[in-house]
Amino acid sequence: MHDLAVKLNDTLKGTCAYDLLSDYGLRMYVPKGIIVQSSEAKEKAKKHNATIGVAMENGSAMYYPGMKAQFADTMKAGEIFPYAPMGGVLALRNAWKADMERKNPLLEEKITSLPVVTSGLTNALSLVCSLFLEVGGDVVLPDMYWENYNLILDEQRQANKIMFPIFKGNGFNVEGLDYALRAADDCVMVLLNFPNNPTGYTPTEKESDEIIAVLKKHADNGQKIVLVCDDAYFGLFFDDEPCRQSLFAKACGLSRNILAVKCDAATKEEMVWGFRVAFVTYGGTDFTDAQYDALVQKTMGAIRGSLSSCSMPGQNIILKGLADPNHDSDRAKGVEKIGERYLRLKESLKKYTDNEVLKPLPFNSGYFMSFWCKPNAEDLRKYLLDKYQTGIIRSDDHHIRIAFSSVDVQNIEDLVDTVYKAASEL
Ligand SMILES: Cc1ncc(COP(=O)(O)O)c(C=O)c1O
Repeated sequence: MHDLAVKLNDTLKGTCAYDLLSDYGLRMYVPKGIIVQSSEAKEKAKKHNATIGVAMENGSAMYYPGMKAQFADTMKAGEIFPYAPMGGVLALRNAWKADMERKNPLLEEKITSLPVVTSGLTNALSLVCSLFLEVGGDVVLPDMYWENYNLILDEQRQANKIMFPIFKGNGFNVEGLDYALRAADDCVMVLLNFPNNPTGYTPTEKESDEIIAVLKKHADNGQKIVLVCDDAYFGLFFDDEPCRQSLFAKACGLSRNILAVKCDAATKEEMVWGFRVAFVTYGGTDFTDAQYDALVQKTMGAIRGSLSSCSMPGQNIILKGLADPNHDSDRAKGVEKIGERYLRLKESLKKYTDNEVLKPLPFNSGYFMSFWCKPNAEDLRKYLLDKYQTGIIRSDDHHIRIAFSSVDVQNIEDLVDTVYKAASEL
């Protein structure tokens, strides 16, 4: 193992993070190679700086004017063309942290790491799993989750998925989480995504407190838990039912045996799907600055060894966009628009309450809702496409997912009627 990895591990010894790191996670470090030498040179090499693989002219990265012309004048060339710093643009990391604290007031009295920028949220999840989920290790998660998890959990980590039914009655199955944790190893990852894809469900305040109580109970019994909060759809709340704060905010500082990890993104929160900018933030109990820094360095090492670095223009556009005077009202308008579709959907479903062929699962947030369907879900999907030119997603043999986020409000009722009609014809 590299000396620098050993140093980071020594810093982390005594925390649950040390026990939770995978073999790969233990081996990670930030090389003192080109990047570190270049940043040293940036400060001291006033005469000649021949360190980094960038074409430079008069101390700045060169560029083609035709490329620069595609950006507004508010973007300086230095914010577009050079490589982004390791860990991300510092001002953006600070701004994201401040925004996260504003949206999660519980965090104000807690200490977390600085967010690390990743290339989208999929990348954040993949990195966190590589660092904290041993190959073949246990991961607890509900049985309805974003399909892409399979490529990370099954194929990359070959993980042992301990799943529980997401719902009990009309609410989150807290008991199921409890049972699943009982069946899991001493070191376990819990992966929770709220608002959930594909169901669109976020636990209520009471349920989220119950989830936290279950996690604490197992941690108090000695289980070491890395809680990964996939907050992809955070903030997409349209009524008072869902808990408005991330589970991350409640899990930080909960137990010495719990490391909470927030994976969130500008992707959906800022409506910049193609920018590929997301964040990983760590929250533990009594972690020192040096220990948080060690976790950040391990994460940066994993990024260096996979992507090298993330998009520079994307990060700077988001940084400027967050500071735009209209930003908060723009964001509120975006949420309101999706909320109108959500409310129209709820309304449109009312006439089908006793339908035996399609039954909506509980949903209260996010982009999606799911139905249990009596006919085979793939048959229904194909039938909807062929006969009604309507696209939906088949989640498994008897569940379909509808993205109400992507349908204009005036078409929501017709969408619902069409899906019910098609299901009744099969
Ligand atoms: C639950 C969930 N997590 C993560 C992601 C990934 O987001 P990104 O596009 O930033 O990789 C998505 C995207 O659809 C998602 O639905």
